[in-house]
Amino acid sequence: KFTSPLEWDRSQYQPPLPKALKGNTIAIEGELTTSVKDCDQIKELFPQSYGRPIIKLISSEKKIQKKPLKIGIVLSGGPAPGGHNVIVGLYRFLKKHHRDSKLIGFKGGLLGVVDNKSVVISLEMCKKTFNLGGFHMLGTGRDKIDSLKKKEATRKTAIKQNLNGLVIIGGDDSNTNAAVVCEDFLKHNIPCQVIGVPKTIDGDLQNEHIETSFGFDTATKIYSELIGNIMMDCISSRKYWHFIRLMGRSASHIALECALQTHPNLVLIGEHVKENEIKFNEIVEMIADLICQRFKQGKKKHGVVIIPEGLILFIPDFKQLLDRIDEMFGSNKKKQDWKAEDLEKYLDEKSDTETKKLFIDLPKAISSQLLLTRDPHGNVDVSKIETGKLLKWSVRKLLQDRATKIEKEEEEKKKEKEEKKEETEEEKKKRIKKESFITYMKHWSSMTHFFGYEGRCGFPSNFDCNYCYALGHTAGHLLAHGKTGVMAVVQNLKESVDKWVCSGIPITAMLNMEKRLSTWRPVIRKTLVDLNGKSFQTMLGRSREWALNDHYRSLGPIQFKGSNSNAITKILILNQGG
Ligand code: FBP
Repeated sequence: KFTSPLEWDRSQYQPPLPKALKGNTIAIEGELTTSVKDCDQIKELFPQSYGRPIIKLISSEKKIQKKPLKIGIVLSGGPAPGGHNVIVGLYRFLKKHHRDSKLIGFKGGLLGVVDNKSVVISLEMCKKTFNLGGFHMLGTGRDKIDSLKKKEATRKTAIKQNLNGLVIIGGDDSNTNAAVVCEDFLKHNIPCQVIGVPKTIDGDLQNEHIETSFGFDTATKIYSELIGNIMMDCISSRKYWHFIRLMGRSASHIALECALQTHPNLVLIGEHVKENEIKFNEIVEMIADLICQRFKQGKKKHGVVIIPEGLILFIPDFKQLLDRIDEMFGSNKKKQDWKAEDLEKYLDEKSDTETKKLFIDLPKAISSQLLLTRDPHGNVDVSKIETGKLLKWSVRKLLQDRATKIEKEEEEKKKEKEEKKEETEEEKKKRIKKESFITYMKHWSSMTHFFGYEGRCGFPSNFDCNYCYALGHTAGHLLAHGKTGVMAVVQNLKESVDKWVCSGIPITAMLNMEKRLSTWRPVIRKTLVDLNGKSFQTMLGRSREWALNDHYRSLGPIQFKGSNSNAITKILILNQGG
């Protein structure tokens, strides 16, 4: 049944529950909500669900009336460690609530709901996946329920299945979709509640209510382990610079957390690059300067640079290029296979010569990656754009150009001296030093890595097991209390599980209007790295020291037992006032 001894071992782990969810739990209404921004537009688009109160779950002596519930559940978007525990948490809640309750899993993401492709979730399925990574119990997908046709099909599924509720486990886009589906059900009097659950390894589904999304803890621990291993190789072989690109579509939370854990020589934080309007060439210069400085300082030929997946979205000249591409896509929505020539023509029409130059100068592999069509939510597919390789190529070229320039200058000097036949010992030493510097720059060696998919389906850490199990139960309680249009939220995560606080936050409270694929749409606002926040400032304060010295930190694999097994992320500790 299990594919390895560790799978079996993990399946035996029993996540504890917060105190509020252990005995009888009641739901009380807290303050009324608005939206983070654009309140009037959101109110107009969500007239039924806008402005509802926050729901707090607290333990009580009171018992609620229990009737069997039939609930649907779906996994949406990229996988994140812990998803199975949300399902198992909800399954166990439902069976405890009323033994005739049923949990229906929709297969392959939201399209499974539209097409009513489902399976009744069994105890056996839960046992096989409890505390284990992956989303394979149901599969996942990136589709959304947006068209009238898909909304109608979703209503039909809810009626046909006789659902009391639908739980959508997803990131910002999928939870936005949960709000849309909820509004549509309310409008058409479909008695099916909708609850969202905050998932994504990217960590950007985070706000005043959500402390972190599930999966971030495990993914960053896995990436940090891999980075630490590379760092140990670095100080052993002392010959390569490693460019490590880390997943996390737009926000740089993953890169920041891994930097705080491992202490690389340089970490590029997209939000910082944007704030300071640092152009691509300036980034390349900065890396090349560091490479030269480390060599001159201690003949260090090695180093580690961490690059967030979404970096190019923040580099001003690249952002202009990507915006132009989006405009071009928007100019003919039916066309799919856009070519470099199409963009060059479009840029000519716009007389945007600077952007055209940037595009033309790119290696062909990169320019074609930029022209990949966007996902159904309008996001640039940054995981397919090899920013690490682009930086490595550009740095190498710059180092070689610098070497050639110095070499020419040296040759001139040498000629002069040969003519005069006068090279002092001191001058000779200097010349030899320069020559070794030139040779280093000419033959500089580097490697690129991309850690992304490696971290999305690993064994969930104890934190993610516990968090997801609590989220599944929270969703269950909200459903049992007739709540809809809310996201299951668990707070106070810095404390022991016992003290975690569980609630339901209206999804409309997190919405604002954003331009996606040249159209304004209501979406949950992604939270980017706060440059004034404690976590970024801590990293910034240490960055000089990490740049020149090798303060590398090797974490090793995720610990499931022992004193370190419940460690939470540095970002969570620092942002929650630690
Ligand atoms: P979610 O926001 O859906 O959780 O997905 C996040 C993510 O892992 C990003 O970090 C990455 O850019 C993207 O998915 C990759 O998508 P795909 O799985 O479609 O290649």
